[in-house]
Amino acid sequence: MNPLRRVLAKAAEVSYQSYAERFIYKFDAQQSHAMLIDWLESIEDSPFWLAATTTAHNLLYPKLPTPVGGITLDYPMMLAAGFVKGHGYANESMALQAVKAGQNIIPGWRIVPRLVGPVEFGSFTRYPRIGNTGTVMWRDRRQLSTQNRVGLKNPGAVAAAHFLSERKDQLPKQFGINIAPSPGVDNERESIKQVIEAMGVFIKREVLPTWFTLNLSCPNTEDDPTGAQTESSARNMCGYVMQFLNKNQVDVPLWVKISPRLAPEQYATMLKVFHELGIKAVIATNTLGMPSPEDDTLTAGVGGGLLHKEATTALTLLRNASIEHGYNVDLIGCGGLLNGDSYSSFKNLDVAAVQYWSALIFRGPFAAAIIQSEYKP
Ligand SMILES: Cc1cc2nc3c(=O)[nH]c(=O)nc-3n(C[C@H](O)[C@H](O)[C@H](O)COP(=O)(O)O)c2cc1C
Repeated sequence: MNPLRRVLAKAAEVSYQSYAERFIYKFDAQQSHAMLIDWLESIEDSPFWLAATTTAHNLLYPKLPTPVGGITLDYPMMLAAGFVKGHGYANESMALQAVKAGQNIIPGWRIVPRLVGPVEFGSFTRYPRIGNTGTVMWRDRRQLSTQNRVGLKNPGAVAAAHFLSERKDQLPKQFGINIAPSPGVDNERESIKQVIEAMGVFIKREVLPTWFTLNLSCPNTEDDPTGAQTESSARNMCGYVMQFLNKNQVDVPLWVKISPRLAPEQYATMLKVFHELGIKAVIATNTLGMPSPEDDTLTAGVGGGLLHKEATTALTLLRNASIEHGYNVDLIGCGGLLNGDSYSSFKNLDVAAVQYWSALIFRGPFAAAIIQSEYKP
């Protein structure tokens, strides 16, 4: 990275830390998140902020073309799913009504990619979800970790596709769409049908992302996420989705996001399935389900510092299987990407690209540029 960019990254970091002390850490994680989303919603169409974020991005982010999962990203670090995902609604007609009323149902869709580069939108489920109630987000500054049980709150695929299709000319140059099976749907055929319908509405409305991610791994509902990650379930779900994309000649690669702490054989088996089906990349990992800080009978997913070791363990197992069998599936590191060292540990595992969420909170909107400036190859 050139010295000027390094200085700018340092300045961005210092400014963010002082801002965060005064305006973010003063509130609990959920309050500050809600305030941030409200703010993004309010500035989404502001010419000043659109220009300022574009300029800041151009100054801080060098173009680093990165081939990964069947595409070439402009930058190797993506903002992971779960930040730009939209409001929750109780049902589809309410979500569609909000779109018709001109409301911004996916705050950040326009401004966040301008600022940080590639973003994975979602997860979206077939139908809207209101998510879990009460306190659903925590942060641990000492461990640089987050924990959440948002519970796949989102406006649903139909309203999200409708909303984005009306703004097609403003969509970012590169973005992903993450689709999750609906929690609570036990019937496998119905679950697959809903995933395909969800993907299908984006395609039908010509909201074609740069990549689709199929999220097999959400720990923050009362479903068991490991259930979708057995060989037969993963093969069925991914197989039908690939069939659907191929049949409709959709030229968008499919990636899959998986959990940490699965059995070693499970990683090897899943990678084999992904390779055989033509899945282009696997994102390892989603958050780690742990007892929620306020009620240990509930599960809340841990991200950030406390997840990093789990993510690198998963990636090591995937990499070993890939080397042994010559699988053609790119690895994407996700989990505790917080600084140059954690980026190095991912790079040492031959990841093609990385994703982050918690770093956005602990290192600010220029986290990816700051991490890149700290990285020593
Ligand atoms: C509040 C919150 C909401 C999230 N929602 C989603 C989601 O909807 N879909 C998904 O695939 N991952 C979701 N994630 C997981 C992140 O995409 C990421 O996998 C995880 O936080 C690990 O990255 P990190 O260690 O950089 O935070 C969410 C994470 C957080 C903190």
